[in-house]
This record gives sequence, structure tokens and C-alpha cells, in this order.
Amino acid sequence: MKRTAATFIEAASKGERLVVMTAYDYSMARVADSCGVDAILVGDSLGMVCLGYKDTLRVTMEDIIHHTRAVSRGAKDALLIADMPFMSYQVSVEEAVRNAGRLVCEGHAESVKLEGGADVADRVKAIVKAQIPVMGHIGLTPQSVNVFGGFKVQGRQLEAAKKLIDDAKRLEDSGAFSITLECVPAALSQKITEAVSIPTIGIGAGPACNGQVLVFHDMLGMFSDFRPKFVKVFSDAGESMRTGIRKYAEEVRSGAFPADEHSFRIDPEIIEKL
Ligand code: KIV
Repeated sequence: MKRTAATFIEAASKGERLVVMTAYDYSMARVADSCGVDAILVGDSLGMVCLGYKDTLRVTMEDIIHHTRAVSRGAKDALLIADMPFMSYQVSVEEAVRNAGRLVCEGHAESVKLEGGADVADRVKAIVKAQIPVMGHIGLTPQSVNVFGGFKVQGRQLEAAKKLIDDAKRLEDSGAFSITLECVPAALSQKITEAVSIPTIGIGAGPACNGQVLVFHDMLGMFSDFRPKFVKVFSDAGESMRTGIRKYAEEVRSGAFPADEHSFRIDPEIIEKL
């Protein structure tokens, strides 16, 4: 069954826990979609796990459009969410709406996600008014890494915790269909989740959220530059890939690969005549 922003809200209201993961190309989307995840996010994390940047700040609209279009061909049932990259929505409401529209029209996204709370409420409202569902993202918002001074847990002090609750309410009031909570203490996530009626999707935000999101490469052991505390490796595909590649190299070098069954035949008489 096709998931939409509306079914997302409906499922959460019935107490179903929502499963979200990132994907960045067609094959990854096919794998995730075939496992029945509720939504696939083309996150700007692609800058780190696919493009090798140290943060997400250099990811462009063109990068996200290119990868979202590839993912859209593989995401049949999952709701497709595209991240709005750094500087695609910060400058003005008009630019935010135009760029959200590009992600839908050119990238074939079904919804967009952007970082920030009360400070981006006007953007969220305008994008929703343009008929594009918006997922908010508060807590550790990686596009603010230079202000935060690193990838750190957010909301541990009273004022900061109050602000996150207020941000979540503002996003809900602005029409967001869901909110990602990243690196927020579990007890605070519970308060935020109770404070809003739209689903919260946690990443490093404890078990009280209505759903969880993880980065494809992290949860499958494919990214080893660093591993945040909140990541669980559910299957070590990274190790399995390394085993396969080492075996391939060994067999190419020993001549064991390719064997007869991997080769094409031709009439020996034709070869004779050459
Ligand atoms: O870019 C991303 O993958 C994200 C998730 C970590 C929520 O924003």
C-alpha cells in the first residue's frame, strides 16, 4: 500500500510505529521499499556517506534532485521525502517554496524536510500552502554544525528544552505533517511527542517517538568514519561487502574467476578461421 503524508499521521494516531530510513539511489530504494519501510528519506547525509564531505553543508539542490529522482524509481510504496539542502530555504520564503517545488517537480519527491523550528515556521507554512507536505527537523540540526560547535546532543538545559517543545508546536501549527527529533534526550523527546499531535520520528531521541529514522550506511555497517552512539548496526553489510571484494580480488588474481559458467560461447569453427 502506498504511504503518504496523510497515512503517516493516521498510522501514528493508531499507535503504529513508523519506520523511516535513508536511501540515495535506485537499488537502495528497491531494497528498502521491498522491506516495507514507511518512508524513505533522501537525506543531505548523502554529502557525508556518499560524497565523502565532512558535513552536510556542501550538498546542493542538484545533488538532492539527482539522487531523489533515482530513489523515486525504486520507492514504490514508501513515502518519498527529500531533504532541503543548506541555503535552499534560509534566504527567503520565496526561495524556500521555489526549491521545495523543484524537489517535487524535478526530483519527484512527495514531501520535503527542512531543519529548524520557529525560525523556519514561515517557510513551512508557505511550502505547505503550495501543497507540498513538510517534515520538520529539530534538535541536532546538522546544517547548524558551525553554530553548535559539533554534532552534540541538544536540549539538555531548561531553556533549550523549553525552546524545543515550542519549536515542535510551531512546526505543527505551520502545517508540518511530522517532525524529526535528532539527538534529543529520551525524556525530552517524550515531552515533545506528547506536546504535538503529529508524529515524531527519532534519531538518537529515545523510544518515545512515534517512529525512528536511521541512515542506510550506518544501520548496515557501511560507514566507518565515525559511528554515533545512537546507531545500531542491524546487519554488517559493510563486512560482508569487504569479504566479497577480497574474494573477488583473490579469484581474479588466481585465475579462478571468471569460470566457464561466466563466459559466453562461440562456434569453435569461427575461432579457427580467425
Ligand atoms: O540527512 C539525513 O539523513 C537526516 C536524517 C539523519 C534524519 O536528516
